[in-house]
Amino acid sequence: MQKIQDSRCTRITRAVFQVFAVMFLAGPGAMQAASAQRPIAVPPPPMGWSSWNSFSNTVDAKVIMGQAKAMVANGMAKAGYQYVNIDEGWWLGQRDAEGNIVVDAKAWPALAQGERAGDMANIVRYIHGLGLKAGIYTDAGMDGCSLYPDLGPAYQHVGSEGHYEQDFLQFARWGFDYVKVDWCGGDKEKLDPAVQYAEVARAIGRAEAATGHRLYFSICEWGNNSPWTWAPNVGGAPANIWRTSGDIVAPIVPHEKFSGRLASFPGVLSNFDHGIHPEAEHTGFYNDPDMMVVGMPGLTDAQNRVHMSLWAISAAPLLAGADLTTLSDATLATFTNPEVIAVDQDSLGLQAVKVASYGDGLEVWSKALSTPGERAVLLLNRTGDPASIAVHWSDLGLTDSSPASVRDLWARKDLGSFNSSYSATVQSNDAAMFIVHGSEGKLTTYTPAGAVGVRKDQEVSFTNVSSRVREARVRISYTNADQAPRIAELRVNGQIATRIAFPPTGSDSTAGAVWIEAIFDREGANNVLSFSPISGPGLSIDSIAVE
Ligand code: GLA
Repeated sequence: MQKIQDSRCTRITRAVFQVFAVMFLAGPGAMQAASAQRPIAVPPPPMGWSSWNSFSNTVDAKVIMGQAKAMVANGMAKAGYQYVNIDEGWWLGQRDAEGNIVVDAKAWPALAQGERAGDMANIVRYIHGLGLKAGIYTDAGMDGCSLYPDLGPAYQHVGSEGHYEQDFLQFARWGFDYVKVDWCGGDKEKLDPAVQYAEVARAIGRAEAATGHRLYFSICEWGNNSPWTWAPNVGGAPANIWRTSGDIVAPIVPHEKFSGRLASFPGVLSNFDHGIHPEAEHTGFYNDPDMMVVGMPGLTDAQNRVHMSLWAISAAPLLAGADLTTLSDATLATFTNPEVIAVDQDSLGLQAVKVASYGDGLEVWSKALSTPGERAVLLLNRTGDPASIAVHWSDLGLTDSSPASVRDLWARKDLGSFNSSYSATVQSNDAAMFIVHGSEGKLTTYTPAGAVGVRKDQEVSFTNVSSRVREARVRISYTNADQAPRIAELRVNGQIATRIAFPPTGSDSTAGAVWIEAIFDREGANNVLSFSPISGPGLSIDSIAVE
């Protein structure tokens, strides 16, 4: 049976609000307005591979070398995957009298002449030698997840609590570029993750300053304590990710216990749903719905494509969990589709929002891209039957009166130009992914309430703000004359604040813009957006524009 769901009356779109205060920048200000709209690129979500899903705690140098080599040989590195992340199991909790981590010399031997066995710098050097980056893993608590092993015996004290300074400095000295910090120990001790992860981030910052080596920060607290409300820029992290749910599937290691486990498509959908917090995902801070299970036992090729589409449209970290030495051609093609990857990595750094749904299970998701008028669109069919799903330009914030072109990202094919909407038949539990390129709808520009002249280091408020939709895109025009990003805390109405990073714009007279998505929970022109500078000087917020 084929359901046709294309009628406007069955469509539930985002709440449409009245637009009141309209202010235009025109005349002599027009030049300045144009530069104020210049999008400033923000750090993209990380791409790479992690050892956990396919190797659990059987990870060692041999495994990592094989995976790193495969990532280069199979074209994934060329497609943008760069991190090779060593997860739990690399260290079993031993420290020397000074508290330094003691590494198993057999699992992590010398790999080149002059190297010492039991030195993690060896494997980092190997990974770097292939042009890739290296990741490592610990826990924010005293114990780690090795206390609850999936395979093998339990180990105590596999966490960094009490050794933050020492451990993160050690990771940076070994040369690691990325660290994932788990929460098994923190959870057991009932620690406060917002406090603990801020401490970790500060220790990472000091390790970076001491070594000059960047260590990307991945928080793994499974979304239990709403990390999207505190994790962006936690402890001053310049860019970071945080898990929003548990694992899609426990490890599947061939020839080991539980080797018959299967990843499931409902598990993939559930993690996708739990990862949607667009108000927190901006300027280099990302929700993390877990390592991908693309290519692992349990999913069909079509389900792998949907999985990759869901991660890309939500700008999730693209971290593969499958064994890279045994990928099928179909799985490799899914991992390396450049157009789908480009959606994930787009320099606006925004997450998709659900812009329309039909009944139970037919959904339209839209992710704004850095090219004006471009949207990545996902038509998702969660039902048991094939169905036609329509995407309307007006739901994407594009003008209805101009035609838009549609490109199918999996077929890699231009489908033509269409007026006001496009419909596609989507199979049961499947998705279609497009780029729609039309004309931007109107944004309403607001200048700060009561402020004149320079607004550096002061709170800046925009009052009487309205939006077309409840979750609306906001362009923030600013200048940052400093060399480093500057941070401001944004509070919308009475909501929990979020920290926004403003990259350098070059000078005080060169404006630029970053985009965020905010929740306008008051109807009409009754919303208030207040920005408080956290680090300065150098940041001046000049205007905002709201869809
Ligand atoms: C947690 C994380 C996983 C993995 C394991 C290691 O469960 O969610 O991604 O790191 O710990 O034990």
